[in-house]
Amino acid sequence: MLSLARRKAVLEMAVRHQTLIVEDDPYGDLYFGQTADDRPPPSLLAMSPLVPGSRELLAHCGSLSKVLSPGLRVGWMIAPAELLAKATMCKQFSDAHTSTFAQATAAQYLKAGRMPGTLAHVRRVYAERAQVMCDALRRELGDAIEFVQPQGGLFVWARLTGAGGKVSDGAVFAKSAIDKGVAFVPGAPFYCAHPDHATLRLSFATVGVEKIVEGVGRLGSAL
Ligand SMILES: Cc1ncc(COP(=O)(O)O)c(C=O)c1O
Repeated sequence: MLSLARRKAVLEMAVRHQTLIVEDDPYGDLYFGQTADDRPPPSLLAMSPLVPGSRELLAHCGSLSKVLSPGLRVGWMIAPAELLAKATMCKQFSDAHTSTFAQATAAQYLKAGRMPGTLAHVRRVYAERAQVMCDALRRELGDAIEFVQPQGGLFVWARLTGAGGKVSDGAVFAKSAIDKGVAFVPGAPFYCAHPDHATLRLSFATVGVEKIVEGVGRLGSAL
């Protein structure tokens, strides 16, 4: 997670080099911290007033997919007017527009004031799942894996260490995991250059804690 200082530095760099920044932020509201101290720093969008000229160089994208329902397919972009007009045209060319029924449903939901309660609920549920997954990974995979315990979001980003001669390639491990009936996404495709082939992205989004424990147990037997 980018620190407050680095977020500010990113905005300053955008202004210095007159470069557009896209802040792809569908997970920003999905933090697990309960107090102001252990919550993530504000978004670049929220911080942009601190850096004059940065707001005109920032496109901020959000989504209801991770906090309300992926099936709605409703998201948003906050961007300078000129860019927004071009993005709107691209969207029209690609799919005419996001379903008006889905947009109206989302608008009604937000207007009814239910989002804060939903956010509190999903933060609690995912925090528990993250904790259960991390505990199980430590127990079942030991020093064969390293990771930083997530403070939000839907995934554990992990790295195979190869300790004790165990598998150290995420794609190879993914195949043996599938043989044991559990799937994850190897990390390499997430890099734009110089991939680390030992990385993995493990999701705790969809299943409950019992299945998470079972899935990690299967990962342990696939090592
Ligand atoms: C970083 C990131 N940005 C954007 C999206 C897209 O979200 P949506 O479901 O709104 O298309 C995802 C979905 O997985 C994501 O992980």
